[in-house]
Amino acid sequence: MAKLMLALDVLDENKALKIIEEVNDYIDAVKIGYPLVLACGLDVIKKIKDICDKEVIADFKVADIPSTNEKIAKITLKYADGIIVHGFVGEDSVKAVKDVAKNLNKKVIMVTEMSHPGALKFIQPIAEELAEMAKKLEVDAIVVPSTRPQRLKRLKNIANLPIITPGVGAQGGKIEDILNELGEDDYVIVGRAIYQAEDPKNAAKKFKEQIKNI
Ligand code: C5P
Repeated sequence: MAKLMLALDVLDENKALKIIEEVNDYIDAVKIGYPLVLACGLDVIKKIKDICDKEVIADFKVADIPSTNEKIAKITLKYADGIIVHGFVGEDSVKAVKDVAKNLNKKVIMVTEMSHPGALKFIQPIAEELAEMAKKLEVDAIVVPSTRPQRLKRLKNIANLPIITPGVGAQGGKIEDILNELGEDDYVIVGRAIYQAEDPKNAAKKFKEQIKNI
């Protein structure tokens, strides 16, 4: 069975921690990004982990030169269990993060294709090469779009790595369209459709049940 990762892009710490408490029984991991960390600081990761004791991935889409990437990874991975990086900046930049993560026994997840409409112009044309690069660099997983199930399948086949896939819910992706492609090491990412729901607990429960029904 694939796993459910909550994208917790809220801007208020109390709200973030309340949602974690509510949905804890139904999620397998948490993804935080710039919205929450810029609003509350990196300490919020520790507070989330204290409540749910689950993997927290920092979606910082790191995209800089190797020495800057290395610094970002060293700070982030003091707190988070994994970090998301961009691949288009090149092998050396991704490798700099991988080296830090390896020393700390943490994960590096690399973006191949993004899930929003704007991704079609610049990142989709190079996404297959990025998937090959991810395979070569042996990152822990890749990010692929659930808004485009055929692309998800193609990129997963190329990289032959676990996937984490955003786009279900608010961006229009449907779990039933990607379920056949998912294995037990893969994560479906859902954000707004859970944390903006009237009843986040029930929303998370429904997504979890849908994932179970493979
Ligand atoms: O709210 P929603 O379910 O659309 O959240 C999706 C999450 O996944 C957001 O945190 C977004 O930044 C992230 N993401 C994405 N597409 C990518 C990579 C990350 O939507 N390719």
